[in-house]
Amino acid sequence: MIVTIDGPAGAGKSSIAREVAATLGFIFLDTGAMYRAITLGAIRKQIEFSDPAGLIAHAKASRIQCLSDRIILDDDDITREIRTPVVTDSIKHVANINEIRDVLSQQQREIALSQNIVTEGRDQGTEVFPDAECKFFLTASPEERAKRRYQQLAESGRPIPLEQIRATQDQRDAEDRERPQGALRPAEDSVIINSDDMSRDEVMELILTTVRKQIESVTLHRSTPGT
Ligand code: DC
Repeated sequence: MIVTIDGPAGAGKSSIAREVAATLGFIFLDTGAMYRAITLGAIRKQIEFSDPAGLIAHAKASRIQCLSDRIILDDDDITREIRTPVVTDSIKHVANINEIRDVLSQQQREIALSQNIVTEGRDQGTEVFPDAECKFFLTASPEERAKRRYQQLAESGRPIPLEQIRATQDQRDAEDRERPQGALRPAEDSVIINSDDMSRDEVMELILTTVRKQIESVTLHRSTPGT
């Protein structure tokens, strides 16, 4: 079974998707980490972002391994480095190239082959897995997402003004929504969850209940002859 969780930055997708996968015993795929890995690799190799052919060749030649809690690029553990602001700010140059999206989408489909998976990103329910059995679009208002990020950073001793967080977030939202291929949008058949007034436990509960119902209906369907 394929469970997709898409949504904007800062909606808490990664941590929710990871926990949903662990609870169900499914594998977890963070597709944003794959775009981050290609971007970091391009920075390290000093490939110009104005050189699409160079970036495409680099993406095709790169070997990304997404383990449960580590991201490996060509044998190098890049788990922490892909989260640095320089990578985040440069991802659009990679994510806007359709050929790179095709390469990564293909790898994502191969990872999901005959495995139960929870995969999160922007385009999982729309373009990569249009036939996924369970699709969610996890979102929250821009104010709420910025506020959560602000609190998170303040608690980790790296306070950044709320207005600055909001401006960066708005810019990223716009870039993610306006991308010609792989744009951020809910699939028509997705369950849209706005977590503004929901606790983390409530979000988890809603997702798990929906997925379990789907698992039951698939199992019932398979075991009922003639349906
Ligand atoms: O989920 P994240 O913040 O780590 O993703 C980083 C960027 O990668 C995001 O701003 C857009 C891009 N991305 C994408 O284009 N398609 C995906 N499936 C996942 C991420």
